[in-house]
Amino acid sequence: GRISLWGGRFAGGPSDALAALSKSTHFDWRLAPYDIAGSRGHTRVLHAAGLLDDDTRDAMLAGLEQLLADVESGSFIPAADDEDVHTALERGLIERAGAEVGGRLRAGRSRNDQVATLFRMYLRDHARVVAAHLLAVVEALLAQAEDHPTAAMPGRTHLQHAQPVLLGHHLLAHAWPLLRDVERLRDWDRRTASSPYGSGALAGSSLGLDPEAVAADLGFDSSVENSIDGTASRDFVAELAFVCAMAAVDISRLSEEVILWATKEFAFVTLDDSYSTGSSIMPQKKNPDVAELARGKAGRLIGDLAGLLATLKALPLAYNRDLQEDKEPVFDAVDTLELLLPAVAGMVATLRFHTDRMAALAPQGFSLATDVAEWLVREGVPFRIAHEVAGSCVRVCEERGIELWDLSDADLAAISPHLTSGVREVLSVQGSMASRDAKGGTAPARVAEQLQAARARADEL
Ligand code: ARG
Repeated sequence: GRISLWGGRFAGGPSDALAALSKSTHFDWRLAPYDIAGSRGHTRVLHAAGLLDDDTRDAMLAGLEQLLADVESGSFIPAADDEDVHTALERGLIERAGAEVGGRLRAGRSRNDQVATLFRMYLRDHARVVAAHLLAVVEALLAQAEDHPTAAMPGRTHLQHAQPVLLGHHLLAHAWPLLRDVERLRDWDRRTASSPYGSGALAGSSLGLDPEAVAADLGFDSSVENSIDGTASRDFVAELAFVCAMAAVDISRLSEEVILWATKEFAFVTLDDSYSTGSSIMPQKKNPDVAELARGKAGRLIGDLAGLLATLKALPLAYNRDLQEDKEPVFDAVDTLELLLPAVAGMVATLRFHTDRMAALAPQGFSLATDVAEWLVREGVPFRIAHEVAGSCVRVCEERGIELWDLSDADLAAISPHLTSGVREVLSVQGSMASRDAKGGTAPARVAEQLQAARARADEL
């Protein structure tokens, strides 16, 4: 029959409809090992407070150990009647240690402080896994940058050719946001390393239990300062959902470029067969599904975050049952990244760049016009005039269907007396890139330093 945690007050059990609505074991069972770890810690503080004698403590710990083994082997699973992971495990403990021992564990704790603690433990572990996967994507980007120390590509703004950039510079521009996402996870962890155990239902425990002892036992830095905050706050959930959504959006922006690069029109990359898919009808097709799924799943993670914030928005303190809705969205966010990121890392690591084509396109679209203007500035011409002169060069070239470097000395002189043949030294992709040599610029020497800096950052994370 249905095990009731609140039998005394009620004449009858819950209706089937309520029981079905209330049930959460299908998604909170993954917290089981953390719940058992929490129970172990709780057993020890009950003993330290003089509420369990040595034998009872030992019997309780033995029962919990057996229960954990049975959970791990799959021989203990939630029953149809178990409301949530906590209820199921209490039943399991009583079945193993007996009601006399097992029935003592619930003293001084509530599912409210329990779930708030276990949820933090679970998420802290998985945030570390997500961070490691993000660093693998970063590593794939850094390795590609390292393999292409001189390759140029068209740099774009508004998706139009803007200025030539080093391929490695562009790839690193995707790596830095991911490194910041990992930093966000580390920073989040510091705030989340505080244990609500001992907060009870909302007001704390009257039984002389030491929350700091449980916190240390469970790997937290400390216990919470406020039992109401400990049981009612879920900003740690929303914040992690944000970092996951941000990382997914960062991955989506990279993926969108991979999708474009893999088109016939761009033809910047070829995807490895092991990271592309075919078509059931069109025999020639090779599709960038990894990148498309990444782009698609970013929308899903944004939804997870939006749903969580909506759940929290108008909740009064302290615990409300609405909070049971906090788990599925963030579990989904973390599960999705754990599934997605290894595929993205593999896709990036195996991209083959068509560097000749990229280099040939880099100066197209008059992307060296800024270099003409800046050369004039170095010759002492005010930028306003330099900009106009370089613009005239573009107009003349466009009219004649030629490129900037095709202008003869006479053409140059006709456009402006300031334009001499010396300008030709900046009318090359390599010259243009090499000239942008301040920190953060696309000059190959600076990008090589940037790569070292990115590696150092990745190593310290
Ligand atoms: N399963 C609940 C949750 O996930 C925890 C139980 C608290 N329930 C309660 N009625 N106080 O939030």
